[in-house]
Amino acid sequence: MRSRMTRRRFLNSSMLALAGALTTSCSTTNQTLLRERNGGLDFSDFGTSNHYPYVQRVTPNSARLFWYSDDGGKLKKIHLDLTGLKQGENSVFVCHAEKKIYTPRTGRDLIIPVMSDSHAPYVVSDVINQIASEKGDLIIHNGDVVDDGDEFTHWQSFLQQTKEISGFGIFPSIGNHSRNSHNWYNFFDLPGLERTYTHSVSDLFFTHLDSNEYKRSVRGQFLGLQDEIKASEAKFKILVMHHPMQSIASAKRQKYSERIKNELLDLIDDAGFSLVLTGHDHVYQKSHLGRNRDITHVVNSPTGKSARAPIDGSYVEFSRQGYGYGVLNYTDGELHYTAKDNEGNVVDRVKIAKR
Ligand SMILES: [Fe+2]
Ligand SMILES: [Fe+2]
Repeated sequence: MRSRMTRRRFLNSSMLALAGALTTSCSTTNQTLLRERNGGLDFSDFGTSNHYPYVQRVTPNSARLFWYSDDGGKLKKIHLDLTGLKQGENSVFVCHAEKKIYTPRTGRDLIIPVMSDSHAPYVVSDVINQIASEKGDLIIHNGDVVDDGDEFTHWQSFLQQTKEISGFGIFPSIGNHSRNSHNWYNFFDLPGLERTYTHSVSDLFFTHLDSNEYKRSVRGQFLGLQDEIKASEAKFKILVMHHPMQSIASAKRQKYSERIKNELLDLIDDAGFSLVLTGHDHVYQKSHLGRNRDITHVVNSPTGKSARAPIDGSYVEFSRQGYGYGVLNYTDGELHYTAKDNEGNVVDRVKIAKR
């Protein structure tokens, strides 16, 4: 089925605020109340095989739970605001169906898995299982979440194929396979303009850009977020976008990346960014950029579709072909990025410079 849910329809979907309540039973009274508040939708099938609830907007004590329900033959998106959560693992029950939800743990070590290029329905399941086993605080996704952003069934496949990590708040960047797709805005619920936004957790500050717009406005996007960037007192500023600033995937991609680097590198150097996380090339790469070569630049391994071979690795410090993911570890004021393969083995590790 090909279905485009419009933004208007998304905004019309209903919301429940269960302040402080983590358990909702499906007694007749509660079920009636839920149905009334939610435009007559039935919650009793929550958690059944084709709904795949997932979370967005995680904070240390709240989250927004989404799922799709069958509303008279049409899929309708529902969300439920959960407050009063504890940091870390929570068990939330909606009509007896349990959903594990993970919120960021402040005041302790942070674990943030970084994934890219899942290209649902071509997701590699063992990588997803490894990411789930990290039990992180949230997940960064470097884009190309689905293979065809206009194809709603691919988003459904993403929910199905990544259900092991659907309890973690995912903060994605928009890739070329989702550019101009309404589904990006319908599926995710992100801060700011959603294709560009900032968010922070503990001492880490993330800036997400839409690198599809490299010809016109990627520099403008950064400048548009400059007030938030300047106001941040986080120890580490991290740029997240889909396209890398230098590429070892193909000559065509090298040109594209060069343009992005020319647009952004001086800006992020001046603004004190320490790390650039990207994807798109489907081949892992680590290098250092900036006037003092103290900005770590990472192209994450793919988690789906294809793993390509590097064409020229001479100017990068390390590259690798294969599926995999990364993990950011923030411990005792230090930040490390570790690259892992699809079995969870460490393949590269770098300490991120404090700027
Ligand atoms: Fe991709
Ligand atoms: Fe891409």
